[in-house]
Amino acid sequence: MTSHPDPLQVRKADHPIEELFLRRWSPRAMSGESLPEAQLLSLFEAARWAPSTYNEQEWRFLYAHRDSKHWATFFNLLLEANQTWCRNAAVLVLVVSHKVFARNGKPNPVHTFDAGAAFENLCLQGAAMDLVVHGMAGFNRGNARRELKVPDDYEVEAMIAIGQAGDPEQLPEELQAREAPSGRKPVGEIICDGPFSF
Ligand SMILES: Cc1cc2nc3c(=O)[nH]c(=O)nc-3n(C[C@H](O)[C@H](O)[C@H](O)COP(=O)(O)O)c2cc1C
Repeated sequence: MTSHPDPLQVRKADHPIEELFLRRWSPRAMSGESLPEAQLLSLFEAARWAPSTYNEQEWRFLYAHRDSKHWATFFNLLLEANQTWCRNAAVLVLVVSHKVFARNGKPNPVHTFDAGAAFENLCLQGAAMDLVVHGMAGFNRGNARRELKVPDDYEVEAMIAIGQAGDPEQLPEELQAREAPSGRKPVGEIICDGPFSF
């Protein structure tokens, strides 16, 4: 069995940062083993500590373990390209966020931003635990809302596949070629000192 490349051998930061940021990446090869509930709760615990506007904590996570009653509902939301590799995931998650403030019902302009912060916390905790955590936009949002009974005042944000790392050679060939930690734009391309000048 081959294993995933070590992200720290592939990725180099241009400025000093914690290694965990480089260790987090989005593999697709998973073993099909289940995920102990305690480990899943650690991931959600990390998400829970994300910052949010007025400490609103707008994020909500719906999930299904493989071989559980709701797995097929979650799995069938995925586009075929994601189903190919997600069949070996241990857990599928749907992230939703509350679009309005709980205290007054007014629109919250940063609900998606806050849910993204929670997602990244979850990803980093997963990387620290050597788990595969892979975010996905490739799923049917309308079906997700309908079949998972997401109310109108919640936004359907993204799905996440979680599992134990598997053998990349078990993936279809085109995905094997992509099973490597990616690089990033240089920091100079994403910042400007003062007004927008990209
Ligand atoms: C919100 C979101 C949606 C994504 N959707 C998909 C997807 O549908 N299918 C997929 O294979 N990867 C998906 N990805 C993974 C990205 O392609 C990946 O994060 C990006 O290429 C950077 O690579 P890295 O996460 O390995 O650093 C998604 C990631 C995010 C954050």
